[in-house]
Amino acid sequence: MTPVIAIDGPSGTGKGTLAALLAERLAWHTLDSGAIYRVLGLAAQRHGLALDDSGPLTSLAAALPLCFKDRKVLLDGEDVSNAIRTEEAGAAASQVAAHPGVRAALLEWQRRMARPPGLVADGRDMGTVVFSQAPLKIFLDASPEIRADRRYKQLKEKGLDANLPKLVADIRERDARDRSRAVAPLRAAEDAVLVDSSQMSIAEVFDRVLEEVRRVF
Ligand code: C5P
Repeated sequence: MTPVIAIDGPSGTGKGTLAALLAERLAWHTLDSGAIYRVLGLAAQRHGLALDDSGPLTSLAAALPLCFKDRKVLLDGEDVSNAIRTEEAGAAASQVAAHPGVRAALLEWQRRMARPPGLVADGRDMGTVVFSQAPLKIFLDASPEIRADRRYKQLKEKGLDANLPKLVADIRERDARDRSRAVAPLRAAEDAVLVDSSQMSIAEVFDRVLEEVRRVF
């Protein structure tokens, strides 16, 4: 079976960066599962679908013309890599992701991404649902205030408007929705290694996780 490293945790903990660094070091593939839900949210809005209407959203998910190519995310051939990174797209993603039918429709698609020599997958339910047999599971956490502060700095660096109290509130709201949903809620798998990145640089997180990689593989 193709080896998989499953990385889960709330938004803004550095999961994506960690996954990319690990994949580069190991020369493995990556799966940014959040991008799938973000693309679905965007596609739903473009089709004028209500984000709480599970039937049409599930049909859309089952036939989503999504493709990851050269670090780009394509929807129906269009590069939507930037369009899916807004706070609004994140909120829409978290709403469409709460539907059980949607998640079921995307399950096999995600599992097919596990190809040799290995896969580093990040999201909310990589270790608990999608790759529940993964030999290494990491749960990356950080306080909402620290995550909002990181996001604030990222936005400012890009010259974009940012409001720190609103970012904290948005993060808390998205966390609450992701943790409380009935299907595949955000939680650490029982056999996950917990890493709190609140007081760690990404390099420190990477080194910590590399220790686990050497222990397991
Ligand atoms: O990780 P990212 O912030 O891009 O994910 C956006 C949203 O997609 C999350 O807030 C979550 O609701 C949803 N998601 C999910 N399961 C995953 C990955 C993301 O429900 N495996």
